[in-house]
Amino acid sequence: MIKINDNFCELPASYLFSDVAKRINAFKAEHPDVEIIKMGIGDVTQPICPAAIQAMENAVADQADRVTFHGYGPEQGYDFLRRRIVDVDYRSRNIDIDIDEIFISDGAKSDTGNIGDILSTDCKVAVTDPVYPVYVDTNVMAGRAGHLVDGRWSRIEYLPCTAENGFIPSLPKDNPDVIYLCYPNNPTGTTLNRSQLEKWVEYAKDNNALILFDSAYEAYITEPDIPHSIYEIPGAKDVAIEFRSFSKTAGFTGLRCGYTVVPKALKGLSKNGDEVSLNALWNRRQCTKFNGASYIVQRAAEALYSTKGRHQVKETIAYYMRNASLLRNGLSAAGLEVWGGVNAPYIWVKTPGGLSSWEFFDLLLEKCGIAGTPGLGFGPSGEGYFRLTAFGRYEDTVAAVERLSSCLLYTSDAADDLTRVD
Ligand code: MLT
Repeated sequence: MIKINDNFCELPASYLFSDVAKRINAFKAEHPDVEIIKMGIGDVTQPICPAAIQAMENAVADQADRVTFHGYGPEQGYDFLRRRIVDVDYRSRNIDIDIDEIFISDGAKSDTGNIGDILSTDCKVAVTDPVYPVYVDTNVMAGRAGHLVDGRWSRIEYLPCTAENGFIPSLPKDNPDVIYLCYPNNPTGTTLNRSQLEKWVEYAKDNNALILFDSAYEAYITEPDIPHSIYEIPGAKDVAIEFRSFSKTAGFTGLRCGYTVVPKALKGLSKNGDEVSLNALWNRRQCTKFNGASYIVQRAAEALYSTKGRHQVKETIAYYMRNASLLRNGLSAAGLEVWGGVNAPYIWVKTPGGLSSWEFFDLLLEKCGIAGTPGLGFGPSGEGYFRLTAFGRYEDTVAAVERLSSCLLYTSDAADDLTRVD
């Protein structure tokens, strides 16, 4: 029989969101008449904006005509989109990024997972904790994580982010080679301001570390002092790769499009001691394993940068952020401690009465018909917390706050109460 990649055997049986979906489906099968409000996986509910739809219709027409038909596209993405990214996402913020530092892809999930292809399997990894599970699981697959001992991977450094430290991670102690940062943060919805992010860039420079910066949620930033890109910090191009996504910005979770910035200044070391460009390695990787995001989808992404597109995107984000503040205010009024929801579409909730995050998951599902994501699923420091998303429909978000408040308001002891309410 064929030998397998044994690293996969180290992984828990299923990916967090598949696990959550399985539990919800099992509950649904047993209670077919309960209408479940889904606030678990961060999937969007609002349609793609008209500017992008129109662009796709035009692109479909292009594909129907011999003259305008597009076959294989450039593996790095079409210049019409890369140019818009350079100008609108970076140059407008006084960040100088070259077009050949931008790589269009089918989303940040793939890129944050695949980036490990160009890094040594010996690299030591640090993650903020709780964390988007893709970063950890893909390092397990690559053999960088060691073994799972009491919910922690032995070769991964966890940087706790909890209410106690205001969700601001301390700098690493174990000299990691690679540090994953996601800001605005999934799952806590919290952020780092400019001076806090500066410390990370400085740390990476002083310690030869590479920062993998996921800014998939930057479009949700509302406060002025929160960087949209790590490259707003001087020197970051020497130490950081940035990942962006159109999924949450423009409802592309089903369409699939994102991009990764790999600055040409970034260098790695080969086993012979030679300096090697990470941009060149990523380009080589993409050319070999990827044939580019589809022409139609890239035309849709391009349209998001038009005046109309930008306006429409802003409206949808405002819609979700209205949900976010409804959730924040409603849950606080119901006596829960909440974070996030100001610069991010996620609300991070302290579970009441010392309930574990899976206990709270079960209770919310059973008593309120609300499905969220248990904090523990994002890492050990997520225990005692719970994530709700603001990506639902407004009516559902209103209903969720009502259901939750009436569950929690029976007594002052929310946990006891939740277990009692029928
Ligand atoms: C999440 O719920 O954390 C995200 O939707 C997952 C993702 O973007 O892949």
